[in-house]
Parts: sequence; structure tokens; C-alpha cells
Amino acid sequence: MKKIPVIIDCDPGIDDVMALLLAFSRDDLDIKLITTEPGNQTQDKTIYNARAFTSYMKQNIEIARGLDAPFFRKLEVADEVHGESGLGDVILPEPDLLESDRTAINAITDVLTKSEEPIVLIATGPLTNIGALLLAHPEVKGKISYISYMGGAAVAGNMSPFAEFNVYVDPHAADIVFRSGIPIVMSGLDVTHKAYVNMEELDQIESMGTDLSHKISSMLRFYIQNAKNTDFRETDFENGIRLHDLCAVSYVVTPELFKGEDCFVAVETEGRHTAGATVVDYMHRSGKPHNVKVLHSVNREAFVNQFIEAVAKMSRQISQ
Ligand code: RIB
Ligand code: CA
Repeated sequence: MKKIPVIIDCDPGIDDVMALLLAFSRDDLDIKLITTEPGNQTQDKTIYNARAFTSYMKQNIEIARGLDAPFFRKLEVADEVHGESGLGDVILPEPDLLESDRTAINAITDVLTKSEEPIVLIATGPLTNIGALLLAHPEVKGKISYISYMGGAAVAGNMSPFAEFNVYVDPHAADIVFRSGIPIVMSGLDVTHKAYVNMEELDQIESMGTDLSHKISSMLRFYIQNAKNTDFRETDFENGIRLHDLCAVSYVVTPELFKGEDCFVAVETEGRHTAGATVVDYMHRSGKPHNVKVLHSVNREAFVNQFIEAVAKMSRQISQ
């Protein structure tokens, strides 16, 4: 089977963990490297969580530390949603995997440079590392086939009326990435709000009765309870919990589950009320070249079944 080479840049984070789980479960992915962002929690906590979950899943993948703070803005973490640790109230075993002795930017640059084929960059947090990479090493652009990005929103944010969290945390880095010319597939809130696990499906996961399924359902229950408290759209959460970051991995392995449209997208970096907004020209009025495929629909049942199968598969795999 031809494997898809990927690098995953993330800020674990509960839904980042779900994205990693799916990625680890896929025989059609070759995960070259994991790098971590400050976002849901501080860099110290996100890299610890990445090491801990990757170790717990018995994966042997380099994990490299990213930058500690956004380009210009003060870091605002999402502890009210992901908890003090970043993984809700779940405690993972102490990680076996050590932190790479390379920085995220050096590791990504080296992996891309040495790769014989372009690599898909999966990003599920703020784009601080990726923006800095493109400023420091523009020569690697040609080795990135596309960026599958969870972030942004065409209509309405979740961190401000206009800005989604990942772009809100570091709009300047996002602006560098969106203007880079690298193809982007954006799993923004428009699609991730439809990519939810409902309560019956959550019970189905928990009823697997494995240590992994218990940890996953505990994280998701924590997430839904806290996310509800931070979003006025209470009714949206009656359906269940949105697995935002999972979309960025699922698109890479099963793009047919999603629908989207090529658009011109700009990032607002300075607006007093709109900083962090992804301004999506979905009416194609600007006449500017399309730089982003903006996803807007997902086959939810197939998407959730894919995730449930991944939990079952990895439960078996790590218990062997
Ligand atoms: O807005 C959702 C995004 O913000 C997800 O990536 C979640 O993990 C948080 O980082
Ligand atoms: Ca994330």
C-alpha cells in the first residue's frame, strides 16, 4: 500500500488527541514527525501531552518542541475547555518517548528536505511553528504537498464573533501561511460543527470497556461539559461533541467524506473587533486567486464510524 507521508503539528488538547488516535490507527499514513504548538495549553503541557499519548499508544515517532508563544500576541490558552493539563481529567502513564533534541522548525525542515516526495502537513492548532518555518526556510515550501488545517471559519468564530481559536491565538502566523501559496484544505468551524459525536455514539465508545475507550470517553465528556459553558449556542451541544481536529486527519485519508469549495481566504490580523477572522470570499467577488479549499460538509455517520473503528483497533493493538 502506498503510504501518505505526513507531519502533524498540534496543541494537545482533547480533540488533538482524537486526531492523533485516528492517525496512529491508519496503515495508509506514514507519520514522519509530530511537533507541538502553544495553544490549548502552554508549550510545556502540549509537548508533554503529545509525548504521553504517543507513548501510551505505543508509537515510536519523533516529537519536537515548537515555539513558546505567538508571533506578537500574548498566549491565551483554552484551559476552560481542555482543563489545566490540556487533557481534561484523564491521567496518562508517564511517557517513555523523550522530547526530540531538535526544535520543531529544525526537525520539520530536515524531514522535508530529506524526503524524496512532498509531505502533507496536518495542523490542528495555532500556526506559530508553520508561520515561523515559512519565514525561516521558504525553500521547503515545494516539499509540502498541502496543509490540512483545522482552523478558521467562514461564518462566526468560537473565540470572538469572527475568529476561531487557532487563528485567533496567532493571526500573524496564520496570515503568513495563508499567503504562502501552499495549497490549504481548511477544516474550519463551518464543517467541524457538523463533525460531532452524539451521546449514543459516546456511550458506544465507552461500552467497548477498554482502557483506551474509557480514557477517550472521559476526555470527550469533559470536553462537552466545558465547551457548553463557553458557548452561547447551547443547543448546538445537545447533539454531542464536535471533533474539530479529527477532520484535518480524516480529510487526508478519506477526502470523499467531505465537501468544500475553493475560495480566496485572507486572515485579518489587526481588526479591533475582528482580529483572527478568516475572511472567506465564498461569493468569489474579490477576483483574487483561490488559495484555500474551504470544507463545509461532512458525511457525519461515516466520519464517526471511522473514529469508532480507530478506537477499537487501537484498543486491541495497545493491549497486545
Ligand atoms: O477551534 C477549535 C480548535 O481550537 C481545535 O484545534 C481545538 O483543539 C482548539 O485548539
Ligand atoms: Ca487543536
